[in-house]
Amino acid sequence: MQVTVLFVCLGNICRSPLAEGLFKKHVHDAGLGHRFHIDSCGTSNYHIGDQPDPRTRKNAASNGLQLNHQARQLDTSDFSSFHYILAMDESNLDNIKRLDGWENHENIHLMRAFDPQGYNKAVPDPYFGGDKGFQEVYEILDRSTFHFLEFLKKEIL
Ligand code: 4NP
Repeated sequence: MQVTVLFVCLGNICRSPLAEGLFKKHVHDAGLGHRFHIDSCGTSNYHIGDQPDPRTRKNAASNGLQLNHQARQLDTSDFSSFHYILAMDESNLDNIKRLDGWENHENIHLMRAFDPQGYNKAVPDPYFGGDKGFQEVYEILDRSTFHFLEFLKKEIL
């Protein structure tokens, strides 16, 4: 059975599609692509159908990562479709908990529950900031998704 993982932020154009892309890269590098279904979404409807923000794509490309994702909004069906749901910050977590069904889900976590350099801190929202913010987010998510995969390898793979 495949392990299903959903990354969640507000708009699904900056942080969560990058987390999706980086986690896919780590999974692929580990030769585990066939074991996973990986997706991302936003709690808002602001950017439904949009590709990742041009600044996120530019920053990812400068680090050798191409992103291709169409933004979508979190839905109650995601609680039964995904084993792991990872929120970028507390506000995303609050928004997730507005939807029916989250109480029965056993694996909704903050993304940085898996970051050894900032346990349960927020992945900062780079949307209203400058270029430096996008690289900071890249480094946080590269590290957090890597350690999340290390956790899964020990726990369930
Ligand atoms: P994200 O960033 O949640 O990391 O995708 C944002 C994108 C768009 C908006 C806010 C945050 N917005 O207000 O449109």
